[in-house]
Amino acid sequence: MRIRSAVVIAVALSAVCSLAAAEGKHKYVGVKKCAICHKSEAKGSQYGKWLSTNHPKAYERLASPEAKETAKQAGVSGDPQQAPQCLRCHTTAYGVDSSLLGEGLAASDGVQCEACHGAGSDYVSLSVMKDRARAISQGLVIPTKETCLKCHNPESPNYKGFNFEESYKKIAHPRSKG
Ligand code: HEC
Ligand code: HEC
Ligand code: HEC
Ligand code: HEC
Repeated sequence: MRIRSAVVIAVALSAVCSLAAAEGKHKYVGVKKCAICHKSEAKGSQYGKWLSTNHPKAYERLASPEAKETAKQAGVSGDPQQAPQCLRCHTTAYGVDSSLLGEGLAASDGVQCEACHGAGSDYVSLSVMKDRARAISQGLVIPTKETCLKCHNPESPNYKGFNFEESYKKIAHPRSKG
């Protein structure tokens, strides 16, 4: 019995570890790379739609007077644009191992595509992107409510609740049909 449960635990642990390894190996490439193929109006301009939301302004926001006030009330001292307690939700891939941060990734681009869709290095090539299943196996995330809740939660000092359906409408960027 003892041996059996030890084996079960070992198998479960190795499954968890390989999952972590698979998630961890993709590099972040930055929004400009995605924009190359996702800005055409004919396909719905996901890049243009993203630009029209507040997500790309999330880092810039940390330099505002409101941000300084927020920081003060949250007990965070110093420049909010340098504070890990703010950067983790107001930028993309904060705290990820530096070997996985590509040159194209800039904090100033705020909450970028890859914050929701996963690190892109292994799915951005045209041949992979065209094949949805392959893209997903190479790290593409089809985001759900859970993706949003990583940042839209009560740990945000300005949290006022989060309604997925309504919020999603404000940031939706569907492909054009036809
Ligand atoms: C070389 C061109 C190219 C680049 C670069 C690229 N994509 Fe794509 N992407 C495509 C094509 C082609 C499709 C297939 C559907 C279509 O035609 O819109 C696609 C589909 C997608 C889909 C839809 C998946 C689905 O079926 O639901 C997502 C999400 C996506 N790309 C995200 C990204 C992100 C994020 C980046 C940057 C990290 C990126 N793409 C970079 C060409 C590209
Ligand atoms: C857990 C994630 C998270 C953390 C940590 C976080 N924020 Fe935010 N912040 C958000 C989200 C999400 C919003 C959008 C408002 C909302 O719907 O909650 C936001 C909005 C804001 C706004 C805009 C004001 C408003 O009411 O919309 C400011 C300013 C701000 N944050 C500053 C900060 C500062 C400064 C810190 C660090 C002390 C910080 N945030 C830490 C997620 C976070
Ligand atoms: C990496 C953290 C992060 C993730 C993941 C995230 N958000 Fe946000 N979101 C923010 C921050 C930070 C702000 C505040 C930006 C600002 O105003 O400076 C924000 C603002 C918004 C706003 C405000 C209105 C606007 O015009 O942009 C909406 C709506 C929103 N998010 C929806 C979503 C939805 C829906 C998801 C999931 C599909 C999501 N967010 C995922 C961090 C995040
Ligand atoms: C705040 C999170 C968030 C950000 C940032 C974001 N997306 Fe998305 N994206 C989503 C969600 C949620 C969906 C819908 C997933 C589904 O089909 O259920 C989606 C869907 C898509 C689709 C498929 C659309 C369709 O009609 O099926 C493409 C393509 C895409 N995103 C590309 C991008 C690109 C390119 C960027 C950056 C310029 C980006 N996304 C930024 C959350 C995000």
